[in-house]
Amino acid sequence: MGDTRAFAELEKREWSEPDVAGAYASGFSKASDMVVPHLVAAVDAGPDTDVLDLCCGHGNVSAGLVGVGARVTGLDFSAAMLELARAAVPGARFVSGDAMQLSFPDASFDAVTIGFGMPHVPEPPRVVAEVRRVLKPGGRIAFSTWCGPEVDGAFGYVFGAIGSHGSPEIVLPPGPGANDYADPDIAYPVLEAAGFGKFRCEVVASCWHVNDPGLAFDFFRDGTARGGALLRPQPDVHASAIRAAVVERVLENHGDGPEWIIPMPAVVISAQAI
Ligand SMILES: C[S@@+](CC[C@H](N)C(=O)[O-])C[C@H]1O[C@@H](n2cnc3c(N)ncnc32)[C@H](O)[C@@H]1O
Repeated sequence: MGDTRAFAELEKREWSEPDVAGAYASGFSKASDMVVPHLVAAVDAGPDTDVLDLCCGHGNVSAGLVGVGARVTGLDFSAAMLELARAAVPGARFVSGDAMQLSFPDASFDAVTIGFGMPHVPEPPRVVAEVRRVLKPGGRIAFSTWCGPEVDGAFGYVFGAIGSHGSPEIVLPPGPGANDYADPDIAYPVLEAAGFGKFRCEVVASCWHVNDPGLAFDFFRDGTARGGALLRPQPDVHASAIRAAVVERVLENHGDGPEWIIPMPAVVISAQAI
């Protein structure tokens, strides 16, 4: 991949915004919360296991791990997210750090979870290599990633609408594909090269329950880094057209309401350290 410095800066800047962190925790993450039990099960977490939760955000996966009795260390580079996580999950330890460069000794964890972190790091293979280093042999890694626009769901509605109605001047710096690590053909070779085997892949039917079909747009605009960087600067005329197109897709595919279940399907990929 080329120069990803601008992408890395955008990710750090956006997730460090307390408003973005708060909006992610109160809105967008209702879908990612549904994936938590699948991540917890995929790494066989339980009592007396030491689990590292990378890109822990506001602590939803950490909370799930604490719930099954694991000793949990959550790591994130956003102070705003860590503040939310510490308040929400007093039973876990939260530390500031970069998922691509871990400060933990070799073989110090039984399992590692990464809830929707892979799309946000400039070089996901570096994270996988670091995870392998800090995992004990036999330990498991599991990461979740949203399915791409080819699968029916809000991700496709929003990014499709940006493609059709967004201002052409607003573009993202080069970075990894947002849905790359939902694809076993991309994820498995990276895992294998880092020293993992026994791969598993599960599709999770996560979704949002909403009473306004436009919330799919609002959640991306207010509570994400990449979506927000594309949506927040849109001039009003473009923003309104994008939101209207999203609403149209929701009504077309999911009925007239007054409540909607908007799909946000995800993939959980897991593997074992050899
Ligand atoms: C989409 S949120 C995921 C939050 C939570 N794990 C979940 O499953 O809902 C992504 C998180 O990754 C963090 N993040 C992104 N890049 C990171 C990096 N290189 N190192 C540490 N944290 C990072 C962001 O600050 C943000 O909290």
